[in-house]
Amino acid sequence: MTGIDALKRAAAARALESVRDGMVLGLGTGSTIRFFLDLLGERVRAGNLSAVVGVPTSRRTAEIARGHGIRVSRLQARPRLDLTVDGADEVDPRGNLIKGLGGALLREKIVAQASDRFIVIVDESKAVERLGTRSPLPVEVTRFGSSSHEAFVAALGAEVAMRRAADGSRYVTSNGNYILDARFPEGIEDPAALDRALRARAGIVENGLFLGMTTRALIAAPGGVRERTAAPGDIR
Ligand code: A5P
Repeated sequence: MTGIDALKRAAAARALESVRDGMVLGLGTGSTIRFFLDLLGERVRAGNLSAVVGVPTSRRTAEIARGHGIRVSRLQARPRLDLTVDGADEVDPRGNLIKGLGGALLREKIVAQASDRFIVIVDESKAVERLGTRSPLPVEVTRFGSSSHEAFVAALGAEVAMRRAADGSRYVTSNGNYILDARFPEGIEDPAALDRALRARAGIVENGLFLGMTTRALIAAPGGVRERTAAPGDIR
């Protein structure tokens, strides 16, 4: 296991300590969550978390969960979740996030908002002082008028790239939309203002800013797992 994988696993193991049998659990997407699913699967097979029901945020996560014998349901059937555990692309000192490099941002945000608690697990490379300094901001847009959405996001100060699939075609999300990756050269100065501007624009379906949603951010470093919390009101 590489050093970074060991950190991802350590963060996943810490999040697992918050899981109780019988919980309805939102299951995020990505390589860090893969470790969480592996560890959860071990506990399910051992019989001590066998009544957990997972609500996956992507087809890939659903497949992995089923492969581990984790019971899987849909948000439609389980509209209220006890806890969601997910990875992130960036975490700032207040627990605000950028998510969506894996393309599942819309479903991830829907599931996280339906959850009583939202635990984020990352390795220390994702911890930033200012959002947008390490990762572009993924913005999910309708196919209709996509070049107009691109121009709108660029006018907000970003260098915008249409996300492409491995074969060079435009990447299409599970919801049938495109993703624009918006890179802000100096990072995002005012994430809340940017979020508002994006939300106000028709055709922008969702963006990867997860603001004020995190209950706990667990950040794994070689010296151990630390927690990012913030002043009341900053973090749920
Ligand atoms: C998926 O759409 C993303 O939001 C992921 O949660 C994020 O990209 C983290 O993935 P890794 O754990 O693979 O870095």
